Amino acid sequence: MSGHDRLHSLMARGVALLGSEYAILGGAMSWVSERNLVAAMSNAGCFGVIACGAMTPELLDAEIAGTKALTTKPFGVNLITMHPQLNDLIEVCAKHQVGHVVLAGGLPPGGAIDKIKASGAKVICFAPALALAKKLMRSGIDALVIEGMEAGGHIGPVSTSVLAQEILPVVANDLPVFVAGGIGRGEAIAGYLEMGAAGVQLGTRFVCAQESIAHANFKKAFIRASARDAVTSVQIDARLPVIPVRALKNASSELFTAKQREVAQLLDDGKVEMLEAQLQIEHYWAGALRRAVIDGDIEHGSVMAGQSVGMVTKEEPLADIVANLIAEAAASLEKRAA
Ligand SMILES: Cc1cc2nc3c(=O)[nH]c(=O)nc-3n(C[C@H](O)[C@H](O)[C@H](O)COP(=O)(O)O)c2cc1C
Repeated sequence: MSGHDRLHSLMARGVALLGSEYAILGGAMSWVSERNLVAAMSNAGCFGVIACGAMTPELLDAEIAGTKALTTKPFGVNLITMHPQLNDLIEVCAKHQVGHVVLAGGLPPGGAIDKIKASGAKVICFAPALALAKKLMRSGIDALVIEGMEAGGHIGPVSTSVLAQEILPVVANDLPVFVAGGIGRGEAIAGYLEMGAAGVQLGTRFVCAQESIAHANFKKAFIRASARDAVTSVQIDARLPVIPVRALKNASSELFTAKQREVAQLLDDGKVEMLEAQLQIEHYWAGALRRAVIDGDIEHGSVMAGQSVGMVTKEEPLADIVANLIAEAAASLEKRAA
């Protein structure tokens, strides 16, 4: 069997679930994963996913329609579970008959999974630990993403390699699992597929695609950076648990420290509840990311990036990035079989 045949056979389960040519999910990235990048990903044979982030239902409605105008291939929508209008967003997805909804940002609230499934869509959730993977499996989801702390954006505490070893042997027979975090080359894709993954999810590697609308400064920062520049945010107040974010080192760390102090003070004064405090932190990140991705302020905005950023060396058409990943994965499978 050639390397390409072996790759297709290892990706078969993921491909059947997604309806794409390759079992490669585009990791949803707020502000970056909009219609142009999502459509380009799906057109290149991957599975593009719109990042809804903090969008209103009206904006999501327009983004889905805009994406449909650019591709006839399947794509999905990523919704953040703590979004105050989650139910309305699910209805927008249902109206458009979106085939796959990815739920990110914590355990889905009661009813959300059933509501999505009732629309005929498949539900994909994130599991940061084995116990949660098992719990989610029982709730009727269709696939899991396990994402290690090498990833860009909000991260958990455990590395991709450890999560893959803990979760794949137990879960992957019963449920398709996509591995994310730190994947920059095809050899790593091949490795996780051989360990039992149904596919992979990549974010950082796609940011500098020509089709990506990220500001030229944002892309330049990615091209210049190495793995060690993609660092995690620091929590300054034990009472205010903030989810760590991995981004390129810049002056915005001080801004985040100031924001945490401000929100902790509001908590102290009883002016906000914990949920509202956490939402304020999330709004901060959405604003900071926008400042970097859209406005190009890569000093005071948040340049979220994973450790694989060192493997991003130029701006190139998305189809070329995908072709490289596939060639590397196939060659590595061919070598291992020889
Ligand atoms: C700039 C950026 C923004 C991101 N925004 C989101 C988001 O809004 N929602 C989400 O679920 N994941 C988000 N992520 C995580 C990606 O979806 C993906 O899981 C991650 O990038 C995979 O790891 P990698 O960066 O090592 O490839 C973001 C990642 C980056 C780099």
